[in-house]
This record gives sequence, C-alpha cells and structure tokens, in this order.
Amino acid sequence: MTDLFDPITVGTISLDHRMVMPPHSGGRGALLGRDVQFERFCAYWVQRVEAGVQWVGGAPTFVRNPLVPGFEPTGVGAMADGTFRQSGYVERLAEYSRRLHTAGGWSTVQMVLQGGLPTAPSATLSGHRDHQVPHALDLDEMSWLVREYGESAALAADGDADVIELHANHDDVLQWFLSPRTNRRTDAYGGSPENRRRLLREVVEAIRARIARPITVGLRLCVDEMIEGGYGLEECQQLLAAFTAEGTVDYFSLDVGNNWGAPSYVAPNTYGPAQWAALCAEAGTATDLPILYAGRVGDVATARQVIADGHADLVGVVRALIAEPRLLELAKQGEEGNARPCIGVQDCLSRRVVEHLPFACAVNPHVGREHEGPLPRVEQARSILVIGGGPAGTEVAALAAERGHRVQLWERDDHLGGQLAVAARARMNAPYADWIGWQARRLDALGVEVRFGVDADETAVLEEGTDVVVVATGASPRLPDADGLDQPHVLTAVDVLQGAGVGHRVVVIAEDDRPVPLAVADHLAGAGHAVTVVHGSPDPSPLTNKYTIGGILARLDAEGGRLVPHARLVAVDGPTVHLANVYSGRPFQLDDVNTVVLACGAVPRAGLHTALRGRVSSLHLLGDAFAPRRLVAATRQAFALVAGLD
Ligand SMILES: Cc1cc2nc3c(=O)[nH]c(=O)nc-3n(C[C@H](O)[C@H](O)[C@H](O)COP(=O)(O)O)c2cc1C
Ligand code: SF4
Repeated sequence: MTDLFDPITVGTISLDHRMVMPPHSGGRGALLGRDVQFERFCAYWVQRVEAGVQWVGGAPTFVRNPLVPGFEPTGVGAMADGTFRQSGYVERLAEYSRRLHTAGGWSTVQMVLQGGLPTAPSATLSGHRDHQVPHALDLDEMSWLVREYGESAALAADGDADVIELHANHDDVLQWFLSPRTNRRTDAYGGSPENRRRLLREVVEAIRARIARPITVGLRLCVDEMIEGGYGLEECQQLLAAFTAEGTVDYFSLDVGNNWGAPSYVAPNTYGPAQWAALCAEAGTATDLPILYAGRVGDVATARQVIADGHADLVGVVRALIAEPRLLELAKQGEEGNARPCIGVQDCLSRRVVEHLPFACAVNPHVGREHEGPLPRVEQARSILVIGGGPAGTEVAALAAERGHRVQLWERDDHLGGQLAVAARARMNAPYADWIGWQARRLDALGVEVRFGVDADETAVLEEGTDVVVVATGASPRLPDADGLDQPHVLTAVDVLQGAGVGHRVVVIAEDDRPVPLAVADHLAGAGHAVTVVHGSPDPSPLTNKYTIGGILARLDAEGGRLVPHARLVAVDGPTVHLANVYSGRPFQLDDVNTVVLACGAVPRAGLHTALRGRVSSLHLLGDAFAPRRLVAATRQAFALVAGLD
C-alpha cells in the first residue's frame, strides 16, 4: 500500500512525499508587482516549501489574448496582455524559482487563459451565471494562440521553471475547446472528441517544440464536467489515454467542478471530504502517468487515505495549507492535532472575488504577511484584559500572549467562540467548532487566563487595572422593521441554532449579506422542514462568492427549499407572513407558516466600551462589537491591534 510519505518522480522532478499545493491566486502579492508585492508573493510560497511542501503550484500566469485593440476583457483572470509578455517577467520568475530551489522546492508555472468571456471556440455560454457571449476564435487566431502558448512557455523555461501546467479546466479556453457544451465548431477543432482535443494537443506540442531542455509538462483537467451537454468520465479517460500514448505530458492533475456552480472546484462544506477521489481513480485507469487529485482534502488523514486507497498518486491540498502552512511538517512530527484547521468559510475567495480586498484567510491573519515574519516578542510585557471570547477576543488574546504580553480573557458564557459557536451548530458550519477548539488549546498552551461566566461591567474592569483593555463583546441579533415580531413562533436565527422548537413550514427572512440566512435555511431543510427564504437583495447571499453559492443552493433546492426574491417583511400575523416587493412595493403574503426565522444580521454590543471611554488609557474595540462583518475581519483586526501593542 502506497503511503503519503513515499517518494515519487513526476517527469523531471522528484519528491519525497506526495502532498502538493496546486496553483492558486493569492499570496497577497504579485510576481510582477512592486518590489514589496513580489517579496510578499515569494514569501507566501517559500514559507510553505520551507515547511516541507516541495511542489507548490504558484500563482496562475495568464497567456496573452488575441483581442481587438481596446477590448477590455472581464471575468475571472481575463487579461488582454497576459503575464508572460510583461517586461521583467523572466527576471522575476527566475528569482522566484531560485528562492524556491534554495528552499528545496520546485517552481511551477500554470498557464491560464481563463477569461473565456472574451474568446472561446464558439459564441456560446459555459454555464448559468455569466451571460456574456464570447468572440469565437477563427483559425488564424487559434494558430496565433498556439504559437503564443509555445513562446510563453519558453519564457517560463528561461525563468527556470521546472513544471509547466496547462490549465485545461475551471472554465479556461482550453477546457472550452474540450467540452461539447462550449465547443460547437464544425471545423477540424469541433465535433468528435479527437477534434475537440486538437487545440490542446497543438498547444502541448508547441510547448515541447519551443523548450529544448527536459521540463515537466502537466495537464489540469476536469474529470467530469457535471453539467448538461458537458463531457464525462469516459471522455476524460479518452483524453488521458491519448496524451499518454503521444508521450507529450508527464502528469494529470484532476478535479471536478467549475467556477460558478454546483459543484465548484473550490467545494464548500456542503460537499464531502475528497468527494471525487474515487471518480478520479476511475479516470486514472486510462493512464500509467501520475495522477494528482485535489478537492476538499482538508487534513493529512484524508490525504493519506486518498493515497492509501490508490485513488491518486499525488494529493493536492490548497485551503488547508493556506490556513496551516506547517501542516505537513506537523504531521511528520506526529503533531497534526496542533494544525490550525481550515474551516471552509471561503473568505480566501470571497474577499477577492466579491469585495476586491486583498487575499487573506479567516483563521490565520498571518496569511499574506509571510514576508513580515512573525510578530516580534515585546521587550516590555503589558497586562491586557480582553472582554469576550469570540473570534476577535480569542485571536487578540492569543496573538498578544504570543508576543509576550500578560493576557487574561473574560467570557460571559461557559465556553469560547461567541456567535461563531452558535453558527457552528448549523450543519454546513460544523468545522467551525474545530477552530474554536484549536483556539482554546492555543490559549491554554500560552498560559492565557480564561475566566468563564463573567458578565463584565466597567467597575470590574477598572478594578482589574490592566494596562490595556480590549472590548470584543460581539453583537446581538438585529430585528427587522416589521410588525408582529413578538409572537412566540417568530424566532431569530440564533434562537433556532440554539435549539428553539421550529414548526414544519418555515419562512427565513434574510437581511444579512453574509451566508448566515442560507446556513440556517440549509440546516432546517436538512432536518426535514419546508423552508422558504425571503430576501430583499438581488442575490440571496450577496457576500457569498460564486464558487460557494452553487453548492449551497443546490442542496437547498434538492431538499425542497424555495426562494422568494426581492421581498421584505412587513408583518407577521399568526400563520400569515405579509411581504412587499422591495422595488415596486407590491404587497403579497405567504400563508400557513408555522415558524418565522429572522436572519437579519446583528447590531454591535459596544456598551462596555462606551462606559469605559476616557477611563482606561489603552482601550480598544474590535470585531462584531465595532461592526459585524465576516470572520476574517475579526481576526485581521485582532492582528492589526496586537501588531501595534508594543
Ligand atoms: C483562493 C483560491 C484561488 C485559486 N486559484 C486557482 C488557480 O488560479 N488555478 C487553479 O488551477 N486552481 C485554483 N484554485 C483551486 C485550487 O487549486 C484547488 O483545486 C481547490 O482549492 C480545491 O482544493 P482544496 O479543497 O484543497 O482547497 C484556487 C483555490 C483557491 C482557494
Ligand atoms: S479562508 Fe476559510 S476556506 Fe479559506 S483557507 Fe482560510 S479557513 Fe480555509
């Protein structure tokens, strides 16, 4: 039986274990950015290599697009000029490769042309979310593109890349050629599977022809498109067999999903661990080349299982290694239990895709700051009192203690976690409890004095007389402006997750851009309730990114959940819920409702901070007590505060 820690050779590279960190944008830097961004970029990847992950996929590198002058491409990764042709590309890549090599890793360049929106095999759509018809490439443009891939790969080789990976999945133009759904051509590049494979084959051959030295070339492919009109397992096997027979590639990196729907290739918690590893194994029967599987491998035990089951030769782990760069190292030391768990909140995606904020991780505020090194120990320890044991409070307390401060934390409840502990009761949020438990162990190991059952008031805080007071008292459920909310069958999302009785027919009123309303709806639907979600916003969950929402809505729909869009709650009158369209004002109603659940966000609980203002020299307010936001906001505020507490 093969083990995760058995060595393997892939083309020209050799590894002493089988965990890979596949390509992903992020690292909060840019290969071609300003010097500080480049340092960030390198530090992100080097830190993971130094912690034992020898093969890191690097960031996506965009191929130039054949566009008419002035066309401004949109969509994931759509770039007119691409990355390879930017001045300084080879020098920067060579320096990045040098640093990876010094750390003991391999340098990979993933070639991406994901902006399927401007160019495509046919003027058609790939899915149900983006509805901008692309330009269908003509034969001249395709020849140009094939040459461009070859020239670009040669530049990557000049930059000392060890691996060239072609991104032929995830809505890339290369996948669009492979897929019968998006490739409707009637020439030599469309129709039969062999014709649809032609462009990718020519691209691979152009790369081999342009790079004289030995180099590893791999294909990232979708095993099964899982969409009507797309290709499935059998055609994937044909692809693998054909490329294997031609001897032009060295490995296949396989996953399932697209970048807009269900399933998504960055699968949320609504899917199982390594859900498609067995399918990947079936695809792998068509080749004797190494197969890499990625998709919800969230811990070393799962990674081990994928390899032990023979489902893949290599296992790709992204989010768990974003959250815990030392995952592999800890496992080698027999300390995997100390690994900071990725809990699948998807803030690493949402921040960039939805809010256009820098890349970050909800549970690890050091992500994206690797180039700064750890927060330094302080020369003079200060006494710090943290009020509130939710995400912001626990993170402040832990980081401050790690810097050498003397920290105590007071919590009103008899456990840590605050509102996150409540949210963790929803079935799709179950992993949240892992991080709360990890935080508790971290505080314990750091010697932070945690006192439970303390309903802190200003007298007690002032009597304590600490140098610094941090108020992280969280938030309380917000109620909408509507009549009839004092009836017993009107509950908040918090009530429901804390176990309040709920009738069969439930209406969830969603006035929270975060995923909370859908998490509650999903939870109730899973428990057999007939759930209707009423939302006033254009989308049911505006802050949930497109990689995540499809999985949630698919399960909700399959379990009978229904959405009522663009409506607000006017009043609850016994079993009748009165609503109005938010745009036209048109009134309408839902009848025979047993329970109304208000998932309407939260209002800050900042009274203690107000009472202490001017009476404590170093007083701070953060997290939901300042303004309720995503989890990542709380941990990043904690980091920023502690970084300044010298
Ligand atoms: C923030 C983020 C950015 C990603 N960007 C890319 C990308 O540029 N190219 C790619 O092939 N996959 C990309 N992925 C997908 C990952 O490579 C991986 O397949 C996916 O996250 C599933 O693995 P995991 O469950 O271990 O996270 C990205 C994933 C994340 C979380
Ligand atoms: S933001 Fe969430 S999903 Fe992304 S790596 Fe961090 S914990 Fe995992």
